[in-house]
Amino acid sequence: MSSSVVLGIESSCDETGAGLVRDGRLLGHVVASSMDEHARFGGVVPEIAARAHLHSLTPVVHRALDEAGLRMADIGAVAVTTGPGLSGALQVGLAGAKALAYALDVPLYGVHHLAGHVAADTLEHGPLPDPCMVLIVSGGHTSLLLVRDLARDPIVHLGDTVDDAAGECFDKVARAFGLPYPGGPAIDRAAREGRPDAVVFPRPLTGPRDDPYAFSFSGLKTAAARWAERHRDGVLPVADGAAALQEAVADVLTRKAVAACVRHGVGTLVVVGGVAANSRVRALAQERCGAAGITLRVPPLRLCTDNGAMIAAVGDLLVRAGAEPAPHDVSIDPSAPLEFAALHPVAALSA
Ligand code: KG4
Ligand code: ZN
Repeated sequence: MSSSVVLGIESSCDETGAGLVRDGRLLGHVVASSMDEHARFGGVVPEIAARAHLHSLTPVVHRALDEAGLRMADIGAVAVTTGPGLSGALQVGLAGAKALAYALDVPLYGVHHLAGHVAADTLEHGPLPDPCMVLIVSGGHTSLLLVRDLARDPIVHLGDTVDDAAGECFDKVARAFGLPYPGGPAIDRAAREGRPDAVVFPRPLTGPRDDPYAFSFSGLKTAAARWAERHRDGVLPVADGAAALQEAVADVLTRKAVAACVRHGVGTLVVVGGVAANSRVRALAQERCGAAGITLRVPPLRLCTDNGAMIAAVGDLLVRAGAEPAPHDVSIDPSAPLEFAALHPVAALSA
């Protein structure tokens, strides 16, 4: 199939992203964030996010085209996040993507947000090996996945979080520590001055009888919040708490991911999602993969957090796999489970 430029649009949370990809190569991408507008509420306010997407979508698409040195008429397909995410936010992105695809008379693809996080790595490190182990760690999800052909095959969940996601744990503990929103980057920064062994926080679900691939972060979150509470009348050693929390999260994530690779005989681990930006998660994953002879792939920081390039990357894979485009009445699915990269039937795949 001849290659075309795929425009990817992402609007599932507080980032409005547009990216352009052709043949697995990133041509340009721009992200606008409404993060500052949510900061004083301590979390993303859905209505504010949706309105910000409405304001940012067209300018972001134009800036991405400028960066790539392309024009609207060069776009050969549009891919858009149709779930999971905030429903109002998703609606804005899908409406914009439909309008563009219709006006340009090009096919539209509905993409699963988490498949986008996985595909982000291909823009930096090339096609994913088949099979590979993927650890997705974001604000809303923590999953260990066995991935074959991302555009064609079902995605196998080895384990998921039974309660909070890793990013959620960072965000909520940061709040208890008096750090600003978003909590993950704030914890990461504060931890630089702290000692990871100053406090020992629990490592949930790592016992011999626990599910080796399931995650749980709500007990860890509570333990860290209680620890902060105990310092209420004195000075909270934030840096130590941040370093210890980061150590606990990184330990659990990398221990389970490496064990999954070893037990399934998979030689490549891909760590993606916002929490893959965490410096300790990256370092410990590298250390443990190195010791186990596993190749580690982590996207560069700018592609770890939400962006349009990762959605374009999935669209590009679907186009090249000959996937059936989305029907005109495709709708959003705010709680879509991750089963396939495309969020609509892909029955007509060419071999
Ligand atoms: O993937 P993402 O951008 O959005 C979702 O799909 O959820 O992930 C956002 C999450 C937030 O919880 C944020 O605190 C976390 O990723 N995060 C980090 C870091 N940067 C972002 N967590 C720990 N350390 C970081 N450096
Ligand atoms: Zn995300």
